Amino acid sequence: MLICASFRKTMASSFAVCRLHMRGRASLAKCLQKTDAFLHRSIGTDVVVAQAEATRSDESDEKNGRKSLHTLHVERQEQAERSVLISCQTSTNEKKFLKYLTKHGEINKYFFYESYGVYAVVEFANQESVASLLEGVAIPGGSHESAVPFKSRLLSLRNLGSVDSSNQLSGWQCQPQTTIPINELIKRLSREESIKKQISSLTEAYQLTEENSRLRFLVCSLLKDIATAYFPECTIKPFGSSVNGFGKLGCDLDMLLDLDSISGRNVKLPKSGLSLEYQMKRANSERAVTQSILSVIGKCVDQFGPGCVGVQKILNARCPLVRFAHQPSGFQCDLTANNRVAMKSTELLYLYGELDPRVRSLVFTVRCWARAHGVTSSIPGAWITNFSLTVMVLFFLQKRSPPIIPTLDHLRDLAGPADKSVIEGNDCTFVSDFNKIQLQSNTETLEQLLGEFFEFYATFPFSRMSLNIRKGKEQNKPEVAPLHIQNPFETSLNVSKNVNASQLDRFVALCQESAWLLQQSETSTPRGSGVGDEGAPTPWGLATLLLPSQVAGIKSRKKRRREPASERIKGLLESLKNKNQLKKS
Ligand code: GTP
Ligand code: MG
Repeated sequence: MLICASFRKTMASSFAVCRLHMRGRASLAKCLQKTDAFLHRSIGTDVVVAQAEATRSDESDEKNGRKSLHTLHVERQEQAERSVLISCQTSTNEKKFLKYLTKHGEINKYFFYESYGVYAVVEFANQESVASLLEGVAIPGGSHESAVPFKSRLLSLRNLGSVDSSNQLSGWQCQPQTTIPINELIKRLSREESIKKQISSLTEAYQLTEENSRLRFLVCSLLKDIATAYFPECTIKPFGSSVNGFGKLGCDLDMLLDLDSISGRNVKLPKSGLSLEYQMKRANSERAVTQSILSVIGKCVDQFGPGCVGVQKILNARCPLVRFAHQPSGFQCDLTANNRVAMKSTELLYLYGELDPRVRSLVFTVRCWARAHGVTSSIPGAWITNFSLTVMVLFFLQKRSPPIIPTLDHLRDLAGPADKSVIEGNDCTFVSDFNKIQLQSNTETLEQLLGEFFEFYATFPFSRMSLNIRKGKEQNKPEVAPLHIQNPFETSLNVSKNVNASQLDRFVALCQESAWLLQQSETSTPRGSGVGDEGAPTPWGLATLLLPSQVAGIKSRKKRRREPASERIKGLLESLKNKNQLKKS
């Protein structure tokens, strides 16, 4: 097959990709080995001293089982760099598979999962093992003459010899990467004996698993191997629900191409000596630079990204991004660049989630409830987003008496010098040291909080007031919008600007219905051994809230196949419907 000149050029740059990414990984590993030294390095500035202080408090937080998002990122990224993703045949013999891999070094952890086939994530103890493994991999040839000789860490393993049927992968447990269907969840919750247990069962079923988190960081790391061809100093970090503690299995993977290490931000130019000659061509704004960076990376991912399909460059959005599906992991990916405010929001949400276990449980429950009723959607539109919904839960928790979580202004007041952060003129400063945050002693149970959440928003004066988590107070709306939630960092913006009046009405009506359901002894107490249709346990408590709504005019957009509600619940809902009709007439 003839290879045209431009393709040859691309091939050559692909070899460069390989060289660069190997170099990038090696240098990162060295850098990480020295993390401790780096964090304590003294250059005589306040920032560095404070950084060392932050590190010490990170250490004490770790003793308390709490890690800062920064520490989590560093650990997970380093783990991901030592990992490979291998497509396996179901007939693969696990023992032989491990024996084959351990030739290259000790394995720290491995697991299997299914996504259009069986895959294994293998984490080696040492970075060198990955290099040794890659040295020996075959590049597809023959009928694939035009295959790109890019040695990614997405590999495929075949023909490891004879199959011992007792030890095939198909017989091994694959780690689930998606949530159980809602019907299953409703059944599971109906078997629990208290609402508190229902909430923890829901959280357990929905939250990201250890394996899924590892896979998310690994996909970022695989992507980084491609991006370093253009930008050798870059890293790719997950943000949003993949890392903020509120992610549900199956949520999208938001990624940030981070060039901050060479951005020159926060660095004073020396009066003499060499500096890089920057030549950003045809770009007269930061946004234009972001667009061109994402444009080249998008093209590269599209053409050479192993397993990346359906690449779309959405560069004219408010936040330019490259969207694609990463088939081997099953993740829907959004790659952005220069999106530091979103990373700050992620850090903030993570911090709130770490402060009190009720925060995460309530957010999970409300997110799941909202999804079950089509209040939120994976498709962009006039719906409330998960981010807005999470801010609504946080605001509600700030409004408890005493408050369960502090206001953002309070977190800013507790910040040390190293926490200072101003992004595009917006003050994004807040404390990162958990030990500085004193919580008030609120003893409300999750059951109470759930009921109160629905009541709070069933009666909130949305037409006049805006939600503000900076102050922990509602304020007069600064602009006309059905739902106004002040952006915590870009305070002139409304994070729920997209929400239309009918979506807000549905949300309020559903809150009214759910508050009412939780107050009825018929639905708020366990139904004992009672079984509904097809032998399923009779839904009660939280399970009832996830059943299709019966309130007139607020039927879910999507028709879902669900277990029909039990006769008793149908009756209750019918009476609610009549009550609503009476109110209207
Ligand atoms: P899901 O993907 O729906 O599970 O939740 P998510 O929190 O990841 O939301 P999304 O993917 O829509 O956005 C990713 C992250 O971008 C969020 O967690 C926020 O940190 C940030 N973000 C999203 N929307 C906004 C917004 O309107 N304003 C601000 N400041 N940040 C936002
Ligand atoms: Mg997301």
